Amino acid sequence: MTDRVSYIGMDLGTFKTSIAASNGRRDVIPTAVGWPKDHVARALLGRDVVFGDEIFHKRRALEVIRPFEKGMLKYGGDPQGQAPADRIARCREAARLVVEYAVSLMRPERGVPIFGVIGAPARASIRNKQVLIEAAESTFDAVVVVSEPFTVAYGMNNLSDSIVIDIGAGTIDLCPLYGTYPADADQVTLPLGGDMIDEAFCRLLAQKHPQAQFTPQMAREIKEKHGFVHDANEHAQVLLSVNGVPTQYDVTDPLKAACSVIVEPIVEGLGRLIARLDPEYRPRMLSNIVLAGGGSQLRGLDRVLEERLEAFGGGRVRRVGDSVFAGAAGALKLAMAMPAEYWQEIRRASENREASDEGQSGTELRAAA
Ligand SMILES: Nc1ncnc2c1ncn2[C@@H]1O[C@H](COP(=O)(O)OP(=O)(O)OP(=O)(O)O)[C@@H](O)[C@H]1O
Ligand SMILES: [Mg+2]
Repeated sequence: MTDRVSYIGMDLGTFKTSIAASNGRRDVIPTAVGWPKDHVARALLGRDVVFGDEIFHKRRALEVIRPFEKGMLKYGGDPQGQAPADRIARCREAARLVVEYAVSLMRPERGVPIFGVIGAPARASIRNKQVLIEAAESTFDAVVVVSEPFTVAYGMNNLSDSIVIDIGAGTIDLCPLYGTYPADADQVTLPLGGDMIDEAFCRLLAQKHPQAQFTPQMAREIKEKHGFVHDANEHAQVLLSVNGVPTQYDVTDPLKAACSVIVEPIVEGLGRLIARLDPEYRPRMLSNIVLAGGGSQLRGLDRVLEERLEAFGGGRVRRVGDSVFAGAAGALKLAMAMPAEYWQEIRRASENREASDEGQSGTELRAAA
């Protein structure tokens, strides 16, 4: 028996999974799995499953599964259970493999228990948290799922009188922080994010320039490079091909319109959250708003939100320093701060579940901070 432990913090997002470990390693991979389409592809790739950026480069030879959308397992919200069982099973397996692969990249020491904290959308349903735990249980000896914006705030030591807005690919999470673990009812999760911007951009770009050829991935890359929401004299010029000939296009208008689709819902969500804030804390919280997640990098978003906050008495909005690793680093910090007895308790609960083979779990952090 050893008292050594490998601690892992993971931000298991719709689009990307970032991971940080107590041995100092960290990495980021797409939350996707590629299975070779046929025997020829398998023989050429020399593997049964492909992860990481190779998925994008080899995608023609792969069946690519992104297991999550809008912050939950695909088809997880299918109330009538009409989604084909094999598709659901495939998504579950993909989620499990992504977690396993991400942890393997940390090269945890053999024979040492692995304890992990995973960030999930702020208001993920109990069922969705169970899906995450099931995806992680075969890789971790003990794992807890916590609110994603909370891990960001925890990592920044910004747990009091602040609001974190985490803008991901599938969800936007708004979370007020009062110095304790946030209650579900205080948080707001909007089922939209970068994916919705990409869809809008593809549609508007095709309308404006019907002859231009592009893929959704190219549209996303253009957004990440040029995306903006403010009223400045920005001009986004890109090369797109027309019948194989590279041609210069001005995509400013469709790009700005697409990027702006998230602004109104964020303001509306903030309005709902602000209405519930204790009036005494409100001014301090509004002057300490942090934008996190990949979408926080949209140029001008901080300024536009500050302008819109004038209607609520004004506020200050800033971006997190590291939009890729803030969640994973905060989750790791939390994992390392949690008492050893707490981890042992979770580990025992997990072992008992495995023994009784129920596959059910309700492990959830309530007040570990
Ligand atoms: N510079 C940028 N400008 C605009 N958007 C960006 C930029 N960089 C990344 N993004 C977008 O951010 C999104 C990914 O953000 P993030 O990695 O936080 O998502 P996620 O954690 O995987 O998703 P979720 O939290 O919704 O499950 C993608 O839509 C991506 O295109
Ligand atoms: Mg995220």
